[in-house]
Amino acid sequence: MRPETLKTRIFLDGADPEETRRVIKTLGFLDGQTTNPSLLAKNPEAQAHKVDGNKFSATAIYQFYKALCQELSAMLPGGSISIEVYADEATTVGVMLEQAREFDTWIPNAHIKLPTSAAGLEAAGVLTGEGRRVNMTLVFTQAQAAAVYAATRGAKRGAVFLSPFIGRLDDRGENGMDLIANILRMYQAGDGHVETLTASVRSMEHFLCALALGSDIITAPASILLAWGEAGLPIPGSGYRYEAPGLAPIPYEDIGLDGPWTGYAIGHPLTDKGMAKFSEDWNSLIDMGA
Ligand code: E4P
Repeated sequence: MRPETLKTRIFLDGADPEETRRVIKTLGFLDGQTTNPSLLAKNPEAQAHKVDGNKFSATAIYQFYKALCQELSAMLPGGSISIEVYADEATTVGVMLEQAREFDTWIPNAHIKLPTSAAGLEAAGVLTGEGRRVNMTLVFTQAQAAAVYAATRGAKRGAVFLSPFIGRLDDRGENGMDLIANILRMYQAGDGHVETLTASVRSMEHFLCALALGSDIITAPASILLAWGEAGLPIPGSGYRYEAPGLAPIPYEDIGLDGPWTGYAIGHPLTDKGMAKFSEDWNSLIDMGA
């Protein structure tokens, strides 16, 4: 059962319906699920399609992704399912919009994941203007979070998720948890239309710290959610101490939320690297000659 004092929504980060079933059974609840091309490539059924001669065609991969999202949506009817667009460095705003509008017909509870790049931000503005929901992914800085806020101004609360990737910052020696604290602090000056979804969670300490900071949503792999469930769903107080040995602190920046999104520094090497890896993992499933 969902603990009464739990304010944060809990999502599963994965693309295997069996995991979703197990997590729902262990926790007694689940508020949503995030998918991405790398997770899709790890789906047990998709694995069989990574072998030459058995790869998906460029259209069959979308049928597979659609069926998966429909299965997840049926398991989590009151929740949210994040579906990620294919986006490499050359993908245009138009192509992102085309995918997003199509994905939105698949299930009634989709949040469309878009990269926090110039094209992704422009697409987010159009999609939220049409009343659609988005999840802005591959966020690594406060300036990118401010740009997401500005690009989606006017959207209703619940329509925009922001996914800062804490584990990937840790990987390069920066304390990703600081970014969550900084974004939550910066967003206090806003109207609340963007919800912070802590992503790239690698440890129970990340998970507990995001709870203690009051992240709106956390997405975590099944292994962490199952361990949390087996420990009795502990919720740390605001005094929870997160140790970040060897990680450099990320200082708070005084960034206002009033500017146009094009006025913020949106580039980050990890955003570019993340887009390249997601594209590579998606393409690994496709027979390019078919
Ligand atoms: C979820 O929305 C993200 O795509 C995911 O948490 C990324 O995690 P990773 O950095 O472990 O790949």
